Amino acid sequence: MNGHDPVLLDEVLEGLAPATGEHLLDLTLGRGGHARRILEATAPDGRLTGVDRDPQAHAWSADELPGDRIELIHGNFGDLPDLRQRIGSGTWDLVLADLGVSSPQIDEGDRGFSFRFDGPLDMRMDPTRGETAAQLVASSTEEQLQNLIGQLGEDRHARKIAAAIVRARAVEPITTTARLASVIRDAVPVARGNHLDAATRTFQALRISVNGELEALQHLLDRIGNLLSPAGRLAIISYHSLEDRKVKERFRTLAREGDHQLLTTRPVRPSDQEIRRNPRSRSARMRIIQRLGGSA
Ligand SMILES: C[S@@+](CC[C@H](N)C(=O)[O-])C[C@H]1O[C@@H](n2cnc3c(N)ncnc32)[C@H](O)[C@@H]1O
Repeated sequence: MNGHDPVLLDEVLEGLAPATGEHLLDLTLGRGGHARRILEATAPDGRLTGVDRDPQAHAWSADELPGDRIELIHGNFGDLPDLRQRIGSGTWDLVLADLGVSSPQIDEGDRGFSFRFDGPLDMRMDPTRGETAAQLVASSTEEQLQNLIGQLGEDRHARKIAAAIVRARAVEPITTTARLASVIRDAVPVARGNHLDAATRTFQALRISVNGELEALQHLLDRIGNLLSPAGRLAIISYHSLEDRKVKERFRTLAREGDHQLLTTRPVRPSDQEIRRNPRSRSARMRIIQRLGGSA
C-alpha cells in the first residue's frame, strides 16, 4: 500500500507473469508502485491503462511512469459502464486490483482516514462525490452503527462503541477524526497485550461503508470476464475477509463455468519479512485467475 513498497510485489510479478508488449489495466493505480514494475516487464511497448477513483492518485503516480506508454483515468471500478466510456471497450492481457486505501491517503490528515492525525472526518477516496464519514456518523441510527462496526469492523465492542457515539453526538456533532477516536477509546477497555488502537476497526468500517467498497468489488467481479483478453490474467489483492470471500467465490464460479482457470487455489499471503517491513500488508490476500484461450 506504499508506493515504494507495493504489497506482494514479487508475488504479483510471478503470478501475473507480464511479458513484452502486454497491456495492463490497473484498476487501483494508487502511487503506481505495481504498475511501474509491470511496465518495466512489458517494455518496450506494453501499455498501461491506470484507473483510480482518487483524482490525486494521478499526481502521485504520473512522475513514476513512462508518459508515452500510459493513460491515466479518474474513475470507479464499481461503475464499469461509466468507466468503459473512458477506458474503451477493449480487453487487457493483465488486470490488477489492489483494493483498499493507499498510504498517501492514510498519511494525509486532511483526508480524514486516520485516527493518528486530526482532520475532518471525511474518508472519501473520491472527495468530489458522496457522503462523508461525518455525515454517516450523524445520520445512522445506533443499531445501524452497531451493525456496521460489528460486520465491517469485526469489532466485538461494536455495541459499546455505537452507544458512545450516539451519546457524544447528542452533545456536539462528531466532525473530526480526533474526536471520534477519543470517543471510541473512552468507550472501550484497553486490553493488555493488544497493540491495535481501539479506534482501528471502527475507522475501517466507516471507510468501507463511505466508499461502498464491498459493493464496488461485487460489481467488478460480476463483470470481470469482459475485461480480460484470451489467456489474460487478473490478480485481486484484498485486505478484508469479506472481500476475500467474494473473490474466492466468484473465481471458483468462473473456473467451474469453464472459461477461466484458477492460478491460485489458496490465497497468496505476504511473507513474515514483508509484514515486518510493511505492517500494513499483514491482512493482504491475493488470488489470480486466467481466462482460457489464446496461445498460453
Ligand atoms: C492499495 S492502493 C493501490 C496501491 C498501488 N497498487 C500501488 O502500488 O501504488 C488502492 C487504491 O485504489 C483506489 N481505489 C479503491 N477503490 C477503488 C475503486 N472502486 N475504483 C477505483 N479506484 C479505487 C484508491 O483510491 C487507492 O488509491
